[in-house]
Amino acid sequence: MSAHGSPIPMTSHACGPLSGEALVPGDKSISHRALILGALAVGETRISGLLEGEDVLDTAKAMRAFGAEVTDLGGGNWSVHGVGVGGFAEPEQVIDCGNSGTGVRLIMGVMATTGITATFTGDASLNKRPMARVTDPLALFGAVAVGRAGGRLPMTIVGAADPVPVRYEVPVPSAQVKSAVLFAGLNAPGKTVVIEKEATRDHTERMLAGFGAEISTEVSDAGRVITLTGQPELKPQTIAVPRDPSSAAFPVCAAIITPGSDVLVPNIGLNPTRAGLFTTLREMGADLTYENERQEGGEPVADLRARFSPDLKGIEVDPARAASMIDEYPVLSVVASFATGQTVMRGVKELRVKESDRIDAMAKGLRANGVTVDEGEDWWIVTGLGHGNVPGGATCASHLDHRIAMSFMVMGMATQAPVSVDDGAPIATSFPVFEPLMAGLGARLTRDGN
Ligand code: S3P
Repeated sequence: MSAHGSPIPMTSHACGPLSGEALVPGDKSISHRALILGALAVGETRISGLLEGEDVLDTAKAMRAFGAEVTDLGGGNWSVHGVGVGGFAEPEQVIDCGNSGTGVRLIMGVMATTGITATFTGDASLNKRPMARVTDPLALFGAVAVGRAGGRLPMTIVGAADPVPVRYEVPVPSAQVKSAVLFAGLNAPGKTVVIEKEATRDHTERMLAGFGAEISTEVSDAGRVITLTGQPELKPQTIAVPRDPSSAAFPVCAAIITPGSDVLVPNIGLNPTRAGLFTTLREMGADLTYENERQEGGEPVADLRARFSPDLKGIEVDPARAASMIDEYPVLSVVASFATGQTVMRGVKELRVKESDRIDAMAKGLRANGVTVDEGEDWWIVTGLGHGNVPGGATCASHLDHRIAMSFMVMGMATQAPVSVDDGAPIATSFPVFEPLMAGLGARLTRDGN
């Protein structure tokens, strides 16, 4: 079950063609950052199109607990009156980030360079995830972390009252770690430098610049070298959150595997640090086109058109693309089941420390539904059965992971027998309108017992 409710067993039944427009919710990564940066600016930030999923709502609550005024104006519009860089107040209660690794890691970064103490917790999934990847660099600023064995939540961070700037090479490809260090650097004097070998999503860099921070990125042999000058006064912004490519992945993949489908998913950001799935699907022979390509807020945006693609081929996915599609491997593995030949996914160790061990969760569920999966620590191979030949018929464990639950719901749209998940409640963390949206396209999802 999710942090906030009871388990919701769900089943996806084979359906006719999916058609129509899928207006997916706002981008989760950008929504968290909009609330956090709004809380650090002096004055009122206005946000439209905010993702109102549980993860982001938990971040909104946390920003209130640290002293910002955060108001839901209705219709996806929010107002944040910030407290200024370094202005966080000490929260009176434990901060519960629910299911959200992004929420907790980014917020730890911000408070680690203020002279306050805060305690963080989450649901059973988040409390299993590694936090040392964030607290190690935060210690360099002078913060102290005390958590459970293995660096797990619940965890208390004693912020550094006199932080020093750091130079840090991120050891794993992680936008959350990069962002936590940059957010900590905001309240350290002088220049904080973060180096990442592989490019990860760059929303933090873009948005910090938008809020008026001095930040630059140079690409060198060592990778991307990001330099931030600390203690800026951040200026409040008006932010229109674009629709989430990671949520778009579900109707797009559903249309590709479901006979006769033709679905338009308008207004999707195609930032190269996020769009790897779409390139991969096209390489597999998917009928996926970009319509009305344009620039919005400095980001490439297009309407995605996905049509049923009966002749998908398995491919070797370029490992250099992993970071740009890291959240999309679960649903890609579903599409791969309907392709002919093997889809080989390497360099994906990070999948093992997401909301669940996503290789393990998908491998077990795909196998239960008749698909062969081989795996190692940082790779997996799905042997596709070709369109029309995937048996289905199993109930899969979603392991408190929204993307696992949604991936199996997509699978059941084109298998011979329905596919179920033990708990669809986590879907509300990132895609609260998943069921009505997919039903509107023609999917047949049921809540078991209803
Ligand atoms: C995110 C970064 C990624 C991604 C997550 C969102 C972010 O995590 O999986 O869903 O908004 O920074 P990692 O930083 O662990 O790769």
